[in-house]
Amino acid sequence: MAVLKIARMGHPALMGVAEPVSDPTDPEIRRLAADMIDTMRDAPGIGLAAPQVHVPKRMVIYMVPEGRAEDDEGQPLTVLINPEIAVLDGALEAGVEGCLSLPGMAGRVARPRHIRVRALDLDGNGLDYEAEGYHARVVQHECDHLDGVLYPMRMDDLSSFGYVEEMTKDRE
Ligand code: NI
Repeated sequence: MAVLKIARMGHPALMGVAEPVSDPTDPEIRRLAADMIDTMRDAPGIGLAAPQVHVPKRMVIYMVPEGRAEDDEGQPLTVLINPEIAVLDGALEAGVEGCLSLPGMAGRVARPRHIRVRALDLDGNGLDYEAEGYHARVVQHECDHLDGVLYPMRMDDLSSFGYVEEMTKDRE
């Protein structure tokens, strides 16, 4: 078990295009996934991509109830290796996003609301499912990290971008 250091916006690790994982069943990939899970839970966050922990590989993890898998304790936890996204409904839906690489910040991002996800799991089995709404948003956000894209780069209106503490502060 290891909590890894998370790269913050500006670090070159977040800017590149990550390489496909050649063997999803490699024990090193399983160890990386375990460390990413520890790191995500410690942060805490609901998703994490390998480039955020300075590993340029196409792997993401996330936990939303609609996800595809569970951990040993029955908590939602999905690991996607070499994920590919196809947009099923191009209608955009706006929602607030945050990111462990931009701690304390949030902003509204419009994204397609209905996608199809194809990936491999840690056993090398194929995953193929549809995701909608918040689930689709989380998958798209995490997979963007694999191509060096951070959510502010998806915002067409930066007026909603800022520090959560400032946005939610009680003002007299
Ligand atoms: Ni992120």
